[in-house]
Amino acid sequence: MTKQLIVANWKNHPDSLAEAVEILDSADKYLGSLSEAERFGLIFCPPFVFTEEVGKILKTSHLEHQAELGAQDISIDDKTALTGEVSGSMLCKLGVGYVIVGHSERRWKLNESNETVNKKLKAVLRNEMVPIVCIGERERDFSAEGEPASGWKDFIKKQVEATFAGLSADEVTRCIIAYEPVWAISTTPGARSDTPESAAESIFIIKEVLSKTYNLKPKTYLYGGSITSANAREFLQNNQFDGVLVGGASVNKEEFVKILATVSKIL
Ligand code: PGA
Repeated sequence: MTKQLIVANWKNHPDSLAEAVEILDSADKYLGSLSEAERFGLIFCPPFVFTEEVGKILKTSHLEHQAELGAQDISIDDKTALTGEVSGSMLCKLGVGYVIVGHSERRWKLNESNETVNKKLKAVLRNEMVPIVCIGERERDFSAEGEPASGWKDFIKKQVEATFAGLSADEVTRCIIAYEPVWAISTTPGARSDTPESAAESIFIIKEVLSKTYNLKPKTYLYGGSITSANAREFLQNNQFDGVLVGGASVNKEEFVKILATVSKIL
């Protein structure tokens, strides 16, 4: 099995740096107990205000060489004055190596269009960081027989085409893709986790669109949406996924360590 990847998307949490340090401390202690063979990839994406401090902490102790720094957003432009935005070059200088783009909370709650996501994706690549590109349908309609109607498949296809528009095959290969159906994100009312089988079908659609347009394909596919220590194993064991993107559970230090333990036991 290839090395699994866990991405911790802290969103706008925790409330204080002290709590952020506690989360990192518990992860650090756990990582210190692992043998070389049990290690996996880990990326922390804190809110901007904690990026610098988290970056410093990740250079210490067991987190060093075992965890990397990510960001949750990026400005579309590196030079134009844009109040409130954080540019790619600023992120690079803080040691950020990965940036989440196209997260559903930004697409739906903050009205970020495919065009804006595409510009942000290009900004990440231009600054030589790795984009973690979120793709996912908002809803899945079910027929009277309880079968999913096919509209969501077309939705995913169009979203993938628009999100990656204008990228070279080499650039697409550098991306990490996270399939995150909006209805499965823990903050969506009535959220329920997808099943690995159904999420694998979506990954198949994404791969199909990308391979039609490009000869090369991204190598890393993640699942995100209500991942906890109770369901992480089933996704990590499915060979369509190379890891998981964890939101809410990644700021609960006990739960997050349990998720890390699940990964190390699978390896
Ligand atoms: P969740 O969030 O794990 O809380 O569902 C995942 C995400 O939004 O990236």
